[in-house]
Amino acid sequence: MSELRCVIEGVGGYLPERVMTNAELAGMVDTSDEWIRERTGIRERHIAADDELTSDIATAAAKAALDHAGIDVSEVDLIVLATTTPDQTFPATATAVQAKLGMEGGAAFDVQAVCSGFLFALATADSMMKQGLFKTAIVIGAETFTRILDWSDRGTCVLFGDGGGAVVMRAIDAAEAGERGLIAHHVRTDGRKSDLLHVDGGVSSTGTVGQVRMIGNQVFKHAVTNISSAVRAVLEETGYSADDIDWFVPHQANQRILDGVAKKLKIDEAKVVSTVALHGNTSAASIPLALWTAVQDGRIKSGDLILSEAMGGGFSWGASLFRY
Ligand code: UT7
Repeated sequence: MSELRCVIEGVGGYLPERVMTNAELAGMVDTSDEWIRERTGIRERHIAADDELTSDIATAAAKAALDHAGIDVSEVDLIVLATTTPDQTFPATATAVQAKLGMEGGAAFDVQAVCSGFLFALATADSMMKQGLFKTAIVIGAETFTRILDWSDRGTCVLFGDGGGAVVMRAIDAAEAGERGLIAHHVRTDGRKSDLLHVDGGVSSTGTVGQVRMIGNQVFKHAVTNISSAVRAVLEETGYSADDIDWFVPHQANQRILDGVAKKLKIDEAKVVSTVALHGNTSAASIPLALWTAVQDGRIKSGDLILSEAMGGGFSWGASLFRY
């Protein structure tokens, strides 16, 4: 059998209509627009409507990605959805997306790696597709993350937002792909650090959903270190250097983390795609949303070399390199 390679054929995104500004938050907790902007770069975030589910957001993003790719849903045989905020404990929210898209076959499942989820989902789909298990996939990151926030905790509630992003991928003959496609992934976790970023509830522990708890400044320090090591791993494995990267599309947790990582890795700041000001941290959705933003506005073009990275609860972290 000839070697297969996964290429990204389309990118889509969706943001709920309602926008919450820093000023609005300042009316709810002891914070200020100035503090949030200075410490995070966030100006506003989108909040899902009461009747809007993660599967609705994921489906909208998936449809946009299919339209962008010009691929009919009947060709899709795999959905991998990264989310921390599923519609229900089971079944997987990906199966709700499968039904909402009108798919009659294939397979759909969720991946849970919190803010790093999209990279874990991408690596999972890529591996399965290169084995020949599936031909056309939608890989989605979608969240209603604001549903698990403690709106009285100023250390967390100012940071997060809702949204979804998706890519449509095809496994094709590597010779036909040329230089395009997914090149390398590096994903890691360290379960010993989960106390620094977690929710204080769960199905088998409390029987509740729980709310986000985070020791922000400690997560911050680990984020810059872990992300930099993951990025170095993919660069070393592939022989590319930071100079070769056309666009750096990181997880959008905090502008200071984006800047810190770019500086540490000597990535030109003009190549950093930042959406944190307008989206906040949308967890697993942030990378595909940033990708979608930069594809839509014409910055990212076919053939560009893209580096993505993320770090989140678990701790989980990773990096992916691909040629769009
Ligand atoms: O995506 C998943 C991974 N998550 C992350 O990567 C998040 C990583 N962490 C961060 O982004 C930052 O640590 C935060 C933005 C969460 C916090 O920024 P910081 O510069 O690390 O602040 P800090 O936690 O050290 O707190 C400094 C001060 C504290 O007051 P005192 O003790 O110095 O009096 C906090 O109580 O800022 C206070 N503070 C706030 N003040 C106004 C914390 N949150 C707020 C707030 N408004 N919203």
